[in-house]
Amino acid sequence: MESKIKKIGVMTSGGDAPGMNAATRSVVRKAVYEGMQVVGILKGFEGLINGEIIEMNSRSVSNILSHGGTILKTARSKEFMTAEGQAKAVKTIKKHKIDALVINGGNGSLQGGLALHRDWGIRNIGIPGTIDNDLGHTDFTIGAHTAVDTVLDAVDKIRDTVSSMERIYVVEVMGRKEPYLAVMSGLAAGAEEVLYPGNELDLARIISEIKEAKEKGKNSWIIIVSEGVTNAYFLAEKIEAATGFEARGITLGHIQRGGSPSAPDRILASRMGARAVEALIEGHSGKMVGISGGSLHLVSYEKACFDREKDRQLHSELYALTKLLAT
Ligand code: F6P
Repeated sequence: MESKIKKIGVMTSGGDAPGMNAATRSVVRKAVYEGMQVVGILKGFEGLINGEIIEMNSRSVSNILSHGGTILKTARSKEFMTAEGQAKAVKTIKKHKIDALVINGGNGSLQGGLALHRDWGIRNIGIPGTIDNDLGHTDFTIGAHTAVDTVLDAVDKIRDTVSSMERIYVVEVMGRKEPYLAVMSGLAAGAEEVLYPGNELDLARIISEIKEAKEKGKNSWIIIVSEGVTNAYFLAEKIEAATGFEARGITLGHIQRGGSPSAPDRILASRMGARAVEALIEGHSGKMVGISGGSLHLVSYEKACFDREKDRQLHSELYALTKLLAT
């Protein structure tokens, strides 16, 4: 039987995502409601290594629900990837008598949670917080919905010029090695082509499709490309040179990570934050809170971080649908 949790620490890690604050609010208020002390760890694993700890109470999280970014700050920690860095982090945890952690972040961050649980015996539960939707066994991560909306807002505006001036436009979206943002925004924006890790650049095919479509009277064309595949400006230049049609490129960059979280992200974050605290009380550790078919569940970090087959299948199905609908 696990010992009772008196004090928990909450942190955000990796790239910020809209809805992280809503999750922090939920963790803090649920933990206070359950009679726990709460501390915030600033700047993710960096703050854990350097001992950047703040006391928190219900008032510390007032009026943050609708704000993007993260009041706890965040960072990508190279040092935490080493055993020495992890040992320093564990020292901070012991020094501050933190019984358990809630870690809010993407795939890399939850792998950090896995190391703390498996190699150092530190109790912790993960919340999937990232625009990338790069975790398995959850339909959504916090921030992904808002980010797709942000991409759509931009692409819808670009579409006005694209159709008015009969151009080809290449829009580069974030997502590192993850197809989610490209695939979902491609389908929702009615893109003619989507390139993502798993559907790499085949310039000859794209050029012949554009030429064929032009012959059939299709005069505008939007290509969404994941940053991990190629650069938008480079691809636009190649297409213009090969087809003779005017092409432009744009990189949406960090605007995709900012802004007020959408309603679905606020709701998801509020549910997942409270569930993470409950899971710790129930004695769980080394697991992530996921959502499937509207219900929350717990899944091991190993499965969440490394078992991604179902997601890959979904991406190819949705790509095929996008192509069909763009004809
Ligand atoms: O947080 C995820 C993400 O936005 C990825 O989509 C992107 O590849 C990466 O972070 C960019 O990282 P940084 O903000 O450190 O440049």
